[in-house]
Amino acid sequence: MAGAGEGQARAELIDRLTADVLHQLASTPEPRLRSVLLELVRHLHAFVREVQLSQAELMTVVRFLTEVGQACNEARQEFVLLSDTLGVSSLVELVEHGSDDKRVTAPTIVGPFYVPESPWRENGSSMAAPGEPGQRCLLEGRVLSAEASPLPGAVLDIWQTSAAGYYAVQRPEELGSTNLRGRYRAKADGSYQVRTVRPVPYAIPDDGPVGRLLRMSGRHPMRAAHIHLKVTADGHLPLTTHIFDAESDYLETDTVFGVRTSLIRDFTPDGHGGVRCQFDVVLEPRTAYGPGDRSSAP
Ligand code: BEZ
Ligand code: FE
Repeated sequence: MAGAGEGQARAELIDRLTADVLHQLASTPEPRLRSVLLELVRHLHAFVREVQLSQAELMTVVRFLTEVGQACNEARQEFVLLSDTLGVSSLVELVEHGSDDKRVTAPTIVGPFYVPESPWRENGSSMAAPGEPGQRCLLEGRVLSAEASPLPGAVLDIWQTSAAGYYAVQRPEELGSTNLRGRYRAKADGSYQVRTVRPVPYAIPDDGPVGRLLRMSGRHPMRAAHIHLKVTADGHLPLTTHIFDAESDYLETDTVFGVRTSLIRDFTPDGHGGVRCQFDVVLEPRTAYGPGDRSSAP
């Protein structure tokens, strides 16, 4: 049995170990890398001490992260899913891009299914392929500057899943590679109109280690029904956001913590079996000394 002296000696060794690691990292030349590494080690060591991590548990973590890496390929970013489902992606989004101006549309995460260079489409035209299953939906609104002036020529880059819950990039052969995505240019009065199908809740890819972790935590893999938008206009900070359907399940428990109340909209019946959704986008003017880019990294 360890005596009081031995316990004290072990506590000193533990403190000394953390101090030694911090001391070595303190010579990192690049200042931002140095401060991030120092804080990372401080928090990691505190975590290990707090949960009294065992060797076996450390090996389980190492095996899990190895599997996450092995599950990554061109079409599948398991590390992004891990960051998303632990709320880290949304936290970074809020830390970096949250505006204090309440008039500006809230940003949310971009997710792993954004594909650049979507086809240009005319206002009022459909980004869904002819005969695409799902309830018809007209999405319309205006792109405005924070002072309420319209932003003609603003670009709305829009993407969503099919009614079966897959993005075209996940099933290009079945859906067609440019289906359910498109770029629209706002008209002279800032207005835009997009025809599509009503979004549905869908499961993020959960057949890998992240899905296993979700199940072990008693969590579901579902995202609330949404449409993604990236909006850009001259002189304004780019915005990456979502529109959420007010009638969707999972608004309270979105598995990637992406829902913002201000982005929830009614999809109202159009009298012909379809729905309409009104969504104005408000962008923040870019100022010489203002915050950085509001869009997420791709
Ligand atoms: C998405 O909304 O496309 C998404 C976001 C995070 C993880 C998976 C999908
Ligand atoms: Fe999505």
